[in-house]
Amino acid sequence: MISLLLLGTAILAALPGISCAPVKDTKCGCGSSLPEGIELDKSVNLTISSSSGVATRGYRLHLPKSYDTIQKVPLILSFHGRGKDAKFQEELSQFSNATYGFDGISVYPEGIPTSKGTQQWQGDPNFPSSINDVAFTLELLDDLQKTYCIDTSRIYAAGKSNGAGFTGVLACDAEATKRIAAFAPVSGAFYLGTDQELPPCNPSRHPIPIMEFHGFKDTTIPYAGGINTRGNANSTNMVTWVDDWAKRDGFQVTANKTSYLCSENKKVTRYSWNETVVHYNYTNLYHDWPSSFPNGDTVKALTCEEAEATSIILEWLKKWSL
Ligand SMILES: *[C@@H]1O[C@H](CO)[C@@H](O)[C@H](O)[C@H]1NC(C)=O
Ligand SMILES: *[C@@H]1O[C@H](CO)[C@@H](O)[C@H](O)[C@H]1NC(C)=O
Ligand SMILES: *[C@@H]1O[C@H](CO)[C@@H](O)[C@H](O)[C@H]1NC(C)=O
Ligand SMILES: *[C@@H]1O[C@H](CO)[C@@H](O)[C@H](O)[C@H]1NC(C)=O
Ligand SMILES: *[C@@H]1O[C@H](CO)[C@@H](O)[C@H](O)[C@H]1NC(C)=O
Ligand SMILES: *[C@@H]1O[C@H](CO)[C@@H](O)[C@H](O)[C@H]1NC(C)=O
Repeated sequence: MISLLLLGTAILAALPGISCAPVKDTKCGCGSSLPEGIELDKSVNLTISSSSGVATRGYRLHLPKSYDTIQKVPLILSFHGRGKDAKFQEELSQFSNATYGFDGISVYPEGIPTSKGTQQWQGDPNFPSSINDVAFTLELLDDLQKTYCIDTSRIYAAGKSNGAGFTGVLACDAEATKRIAAFAPVSGAFYLGTDQELPPCNPSRHPIPIMEFHGFKDTTIPYAGGINTRGNANSTNMVTWVDDWAKRDGFQVTANKTSYLCSENKKVTRYSWNETVVHYNYTNLYHDWPSSFPNGDTVKALTCEEAEATSIILEWLKKWSL
């Protein structure tokens, strides 16, 4: 009996891509068949029970067509903006869209509703201190790692607006930075506290790869920072925010700056510190997820294909693993 079991796990361990410990590891979903109701390339809403302060938390899950229960794949978390939801974020960030070629699992967590029904994330000035979205995120990763065959060294986080602000919260969290390899906030809402300072940032490793995208015409979370539309908090100036990350990541040198012109009025300026801290400034964009086609944001302006956030993020993430 015991030797049979050992033989079984030995075979499992010999299969390529399998990362489970020799003794059946309950924290590893490699080799497990798909849960009932889960199909490849078909997004589905799911929930977990959570200690985050709200007992049941939701998320939307997409497994790529190529998913194989014995092959480890990367995972990307994509957090929606305030007032939006997981399904909206899936359409906005396009990580489930096979055209962009992501061969991993994409996960779109749901924020918690406010009294007005608006969904939001930790980092927003109205967010209740009784709720811990970092705890939810880590619980969600535990659950996903138990159920699916995930390369735990290649877990990433992206988000839009308040969801991007929360991506920044994760990038500053000691536990989350042990689990998440790289971060990609888009039109990030990085709020200052009442002391007009950014909250403390304590990642547990250095450097933290982080890439931010911002429209220079953003009026919701202005490039230059300042008061938000609700008038209850200031966001940071993006140049200050990016410089802070470059410093925190140990770069003393100035960024490499490149610019390109998609077409008239569509200049994109890119800053890079050794590709680790990267920032895009879009001359013609507002509070948008940079895209070459209308994508669910109130798109007042588009960018060219080569400056689409989705493909830039997915290409850049390939560099990073824990
Ligand atoms: C899944 O969640 C989205 C919000 O993220 C909602 O709009 C949609 O109706 C839900 N779908 C189902 C089948 O419940
Ligand atoms: C997938 O991406 C392509 C190329 O960007 C786009 O044309 C298409 O509309 C997207 N599909 C969906 C369902 O959003
Ligand atoms: C926003 O910043 C301005 C200028 O520093 C300051 O006067 C104002 O009190 C700040 N507002 C909030 C809500 O923090
Ligand atoms: C720059 O990146 C390369 C490749 O990732 C790495 O080997 C090198 O240590 C980095 N240099 C600095 C100063 O971070
Ligand atoms: C700028 O680019 C050069 C050439 O690719 C590279 O050697 C250098 O490390 C880069 N500097 C920064 C700050 O990324
Ligand atoms: C961002 O782009 C705008 C518009 O082209 C430009 O005026 C501004 O100086 C740029 N800022 C930075 C830091 O690149």
